[in-house]
Amino acid sequence: MSYTGTFRIWRGDADGGALADFRVEVNEGEVVLDVLHRLQATQTPDLAVRWNCKAGKCGSCSAEINGKPRLLCMTRMSVFERDDVVTVTPMRTFPVIRDLVTDVSFNYAKAREIPSFTPPADLAPGEYRMAQVDVNRSQEFRKCIECYLCQDTCHVVRDHEENKESFAGPRFLMRIAELEMHPLDVADRVPAAQEEHGLGRCNITKCCTDVCPEGIKITDNALIPMKERVADQRYDPLVWLGRTISRR
Ligand code: SF4
Ligand code: F3S
Ligand code: FES
Repeated sequence: MSYTGTFRIWRGDADGGALADFRVEVNEGEVVLDVLHRLQATQTPDLAVRWNCKAGKCGSCSAEINGKPRLLCMTRMSVFERDDVVTVTPMRTFPVIRDLVTDVSFNYAKAREIPSFTPPADLAPGEYRMAQVDVNRSQEFRKCIECYLCQDTCHVVRDHEENKESFAGPRFLMRIAELEMHPLDVADRVPAAQEEHGLGRCNITKCCTDVCPEGIKITDNALIPMKERVADQRYDPLVWLGRTISRR
């Protein structure tokens, strides 16, 4: 069954913009991205929206729907009432390029700051062995589609541009945790997580976990274990003594 829905969409660029209202056809089974495509086809050919897969796997179509960070291609129109106004705005944490498209290069810069996987020097590729439980842990984090919805929602950087320099955000603190908990990674990533990437600024609100379209338990399985490792290194006298001796 078709009906005419009301959409309120942010239009503008880096110099500013405003919400604009549209009445547009909605059909059974559609997602928000379908309706935006119909708007492009019928009323606003210049509406900028980024997407690629339309299957929740490329992480391109991130935006905010009624104020909540969501994938445009995975948000069904059936979750709204027919007379709801569906408001679509760009991710607030990143600079707008145009309309619903943001510049997410902050995330690429943070990714580059994390040293890559560091296996033991005496192991050749092909000699790596690890327990299935460790593989499973990495696999959960590897489901990340880099949509950056978790980065967008985290209050540490949302509306706090000044914190971006010293805070990697949940997606990249999770990457550090993945490597730190990897049995074959020999780098000590705990001090940098706390001192360079701002782990201490995370107060485990779990908003990042709530918006992750892959259902990754970012807070419980990555951020809290990292915080525990920081506490161990800092406050456990035996761990502290062991680290001090091993550095000599
Ligand atoms: Fe997106 Fe989840 Fe990856 Fe964050 S952790 S970038 S929310 S898929
Ligand atoms: Fe931010 Fe997630 Fe921590 S939303 S405060 S990184 S639990
Ligand atoms: Fe690829 Fe939405 S278009 S995740």
